[in-house]
Amino acid sequence: MSGLNGKVALVTGGTGGIGSAICVKLAQAGCKVVSTYLDEAQASEWKKKMADAGFDMAIVKCDVSSFEDCKSMGEKLNAEFGGVDVLVNNAGITKDGTFRKMSEGQWNAVLTVNLDSVFNVTKQFIDGMLNKSWGRVINISSINGQKGQFGQTNYSAAKAGMHGFTMALAQETAKKGVTVNSISPGYIGTEMVMAVAEDVRNQIIAQIPVGRLGKPEEIAALVAFLASEDGAFITGANIAANGGQHMC
Ligand code: CAA
Repeated sequence: MSGLNGKVALVTGGTGGIGSAICVKLAQAGCKVVSTYLDEAQASEWKKKMADAGFDMAIVKCDVSSFEDCKSMGEKLNAEFGGVDVLVNNAGITKDGTFRKMSEGQWNAVLTVNLDSVFNVTKQFIDGMLNKSWGRVINISSINGQKGQFGQTNYSAAKAGMHGFTMALAQETAKKGVTVNSISPGYIGTEMVMAVAEDVRNQIIAQIPVGRLGKPEEIAALVAFLASEDGAFITGANIAANGGQHMC
């Protein structure tokens, strides 16, 4: 991928399924990659696994739903790495339940982790990108933000909101060489999707024309393309990668 050598990339939730693949792909493209984490044990296991595979990833503890935590992380990374060039807002959770059964806690958790985080984290690095006249913000949204999903009013609202943010910020930063895009993955073979009850999951897979779950690497490849110089004319877009499950 052109133009990524030496760039600093921050991937929130980079220790997870799709996040790990994004970290690897950006590192292979020449970026210095930093991932956020929450759980110490999981993070050190991940760092070791990456080191064993030949990748020197940096990790920083940050609860992306907390503005204060993100501010501290921003100060640290801006001082240590001179800013972040490629920001991938990937951290996300599900707390599924039909709306009638959904608690305020389920709603708030998903909205703060999946949507408020995009404000909290992007806020720390956007000035640096604009000052350098180069930057990439890539928001990992979801097919369910495009079409809605039974049992996911919270997640669908947050993921649709991410793309609204993308379109607005893209307009504000386009002239300064900073692109802002969303990727909407369909059902990818990660722990998050495997946590859906098997019968429900099988019904979903039956609705995917390519006949299988997606691979994390298929999302990572898109991230790397959008981050590269080749992706410079794409901004404010929402790129679907869902095996044909939802076409719009
Ligand atoms: N459409 C219409 N009706 C449906 C339905 C659907 N898709 N799914 C279930 N129902 C019906 C059932 O037939 C049942 O009807 P009856 O009451 O008449 O028998 C009723 O709804 C069940 O309602 P409940 O409130 O009892 O629901 P539940 O507790 O059994 O299950 C749920 C709720 C856990 C949310 C379940 O619907 C579910 O797992 N849905 C899938 C959620 C999903 O796709 N999550 C994706 C997670 S991964 C991810 O999000 C990554 C990404 O970006 C893609």
